[in-house]
Amino acid sequence: MIKKCLFPVAGYGTRFLPATKSMPKEMLPIVNKPLVQYGVEEALDAGLFEIAFVTGRGKRTINDHFDISYELEHQIAGTDKEQTLVGIRNVIDRAVFSTTRQREMKGLGHAILTGQTLIGDEPFGVILADDLCINEGGDGVMAQMVKIYKQVRCSIVAIEEVPKDQIHKFGVIAGEAVRDDLYRVTNMVEKPSAEEAPSNLAIIGRYILTPDIFDLIRQTPPGKNGEVQITDALMRQAKEGCVMAYKFKGRRFDCGSVDGFVEATNYCYEHFYKQGKL
Ligand code: G1P
Repeated sequence: MIKKCLFPVAGYGTRFLPATKSMPKEMLPIVNKPLVQYGVEEALDAGLFEIAFVTGRGKRTINDHFDISYELEHQIAGTDKEQTLVGIRNVIDRAVFSTTRQREMKGLGHAILTGQTLIGDEPFGVILADDLCINEGGDGVMAQMVKIYKQVRCSIVAIEEVPKDQIHKFGVIAGEAVRDDLYRVTNMVEKPSAEEAPSNLAIIGRYILTPDIFDLIRQTPPGKNGEVQITDALMRQAKEGCVMAYKFKGRRFDCGSVDGFVEATNYCYEHFYKQGKL
């Protein structure tokens, strides 16, 4: 029912300079796998096989990663190194990739609108690869959200509780609980101060959006930091219809920050790499 997943991957990754001077931040590895591959695998596990990248200048290696590398594969064919490419080969075989470019960085809302040409008129997932989400032994976060979508048929944002001193980094919702882990959104604010925040429920980088969001983004003027915010467009959608917020199962690592990146690396090393699962 939902087939497509949009990956806004045009950002600069300035917090990782100089590593990200010529390399996309989404290609930084957590142990031996690039961040964006974790995101794409989460989309595939949710049944979203059409992967749409909104890229920018200097992001070509993301497309190369999801393509065959003839020379390398020829070199290691028949050796024990061949095994190391089985995972990515599997991803490439299962998915279809398309790409469009965002010429200017005008915010997440603008990035998503740029992807309209790849999405068309159907509901779709959005994954921000910086937010690495792991739910060991259970459904990934996007798969959990697809299940919810089948029940509610409207846009959904993933949320988690965050401490007050962190709330200014996120979009924050207020809502009416319809069950323990699901809220109907009544308010939404992008990166509020701790005093202004309507709750401690922060949006993390997983969305399911219905296609009417594109016109709503077009009607949304630049907001916080002069950028077109998806949070503001979603607030319009919540007023006109319905937006749900889902408290997902699993752990989220903020791999857009050095601390979160190191934490994710240690976690994946212990839980996956050492167990032979990476
Ligand atoms: C974006 C969104 C924000 C959300 C966050 C999750 O912000 O604008 O609402 O809480 O992703 O990671 P960014 O972190 O790109 O500034």
